[in-house]
Amino acid sequence: DQPIGVAVLGMGNVGTEVVRILREHSEDLRSRVGAPVVLRGVAVRNLDNDRGLPPHLLTTDADALVARDDVDLVVEVIGGIDPPRRLILAALNAGKSVVTANKALLADYTGELAAAAERSRADLYFEAAVAGAIPVVRPLIQSLAGDRVNRVVGIVNGTTNFILSAMDETGADYEVTLKEATRLGYAEADPTADVEGYDAAAKAAILASLAFHTRVTAADVYREGISKISAEDLETASALNCTVKLLAICERVAAGPGEPSVAEGGKERVSVRVYPALVPRKHPLAAVSGAFNAVVVEAENAGRLMFYGQGAGGAPTASAVLGDLVMAARNKFYGGRAPGESVYAELPIAPIGDTPTRYHV
Ligand code: HSE
Repeated sequence: DQPIGVAVLGMGNVGTEVVRILREHSEDLRSRVGAPVVLRGVAVRNLDNDRGLPPHLLTTDADALVARDDVDLVVEVIGGIDPPRRLILAALNAGKSVVTANKALLADYTGELAAAAERSRADLYFEAAVAGAIPVVRPLIQSLAGDRVNRVVGIVNGTTNFILSAMDETGADYEVTLKEATRLGYAEADPTADVEGYDAAAKAAILASLAFHTRVTAADVYREGISKISAEDLETASALNCTVKLLAICERVAAGPGEPSVAEGGKERVSVRVYPALVPRKHPLAAVSGAFNAVVVEAENAGRLMFYGQGAGGAPTASAVLGDLVMAARNKFYGGRAPGESVYAELPIAPIGDTPTRYHV
């Protein structure tokens, strides 16, 4: 079978895990795609660090790697706007499908990137850009494509959820808890993007664009972070049988004041906002603690759906990247079809008598 060549751009937490899974699970990937998936190279900022990879796979020239004839799919896990924007456009314009985890780029440039993908009939997949391992992009794009989504409410930033949960549990103040989050590796050295809600706002823009089939950019999102939340705020919330969560809220709202109502032919609007909100303890989002994420989707016919899991971290985010990669590889070479019988022949079925009767948690 003709191999599918993959270039990975960036080797931080996520890139390292993507490369590990590509190498460790190459047989699984081959059977799921229907052809060998071969790592052609990894673009890194410098070659000094020992990354446990054969040197011929590493390069600092990302542009040349993307342009190689034997690269069919490009995985972008560098982050930030440039160079990822230039590299992704170059790949798409050359007809190569792209998988990216880059929420900041997608929040502002999805239109441009999607148009380039459409022109060259390549795929642009980004499940990993919102809520890490949690499948939420694909359900919005595919599973709910025949429904009408009215609202998406989520905890989409692990760092701030870790901080708010810890403040709730310990009664400690924001500054103390942030220091602890940094010490434990949850918060980055510069925590601004997380604690001021920029990261959540980028994810909210992506979710709203998908849910409402409209273009929402990060600048359209009302945003407040958690840096002004105090121990007293958590105490007050508790007295009301609530906790405080940084929520991303995307919803359809009625036409603005003075405008004709929807019944009168006026247009609904989309409201997208990120702020610390009081959440009743009995609401399912109140139970999401630590660095976890959860997204609740309300659709006219499906009703309320909830997606929960690890929203950050190298391996969970890489899981979403690899899922996209398998889909992009299939689409490119097999027109989106599953590769036939071989996928169903991976594991023999255990005889009933040998089947464990307990589920281990
Ligand atoms: N800094 C992000 C978070 C990582 O804490 O959720 C995933 O985008």
